Amino acid sequence: MKQLHILVLNGPNLNLLGTREPGHYGAETLADINQKLISLADNLGVELTTLQSNHEGELVEHIQKAGEDGIDAILINPAAYTHTSVAIRDALLATCIPFVEVHLSNIHKREEFRHRSLLVDAAVGTVAGFGPSSYTMALHGIIAHLQHKQGE
Ligand code: DQA
Repeated sequence: MKQLHILVLNGPNLNLLGTREPGHYGAETLADINQKLISLADNLGVELTTLQSNHEGELVEHIQKAGEDGIDAILINPAAYTHTSVAIRDALLATCIPFVEVHLSNIHKREEFRHRSLLVDAAVGTVAGFGPSSYTMALHGIIAHLQHKQGE
């Protein structure tokens, strides 16, 4: 079976994790989170690429490139763009790459404007509210999903 290649894409302000609103987002930096994910992916025999951008267009370009590169799945924390970006939704739909929407905080327990996601109905699934573990849960979930599809 071909080795799975998964892209982890993080949106605006997530480069500030560690110092940004620790009550919502915890004390771990994005580098800490990525490092743990990469070693988990290694143990699971999966290739993992991590990217972060504060710019909507750049996130769209990363998604388009993932389509060209044959990436098998995307774990995306679109951050504030979750609630606003038709462009990110359209890019994900255009590539047809299965994706998981990931949030550190439980967006449904927070301000009302965070309750709406423009991606949720197109995602394989959503993980929110578990801090950095949201990413590891999403990784386990998407691998199981892809392996199930490969076996079909
Ligand atoms: C977030 C939740 C968003 O509402 C917020 O804008 C973020 C982070 C999360 O991971 O909990 O930047 O996506």
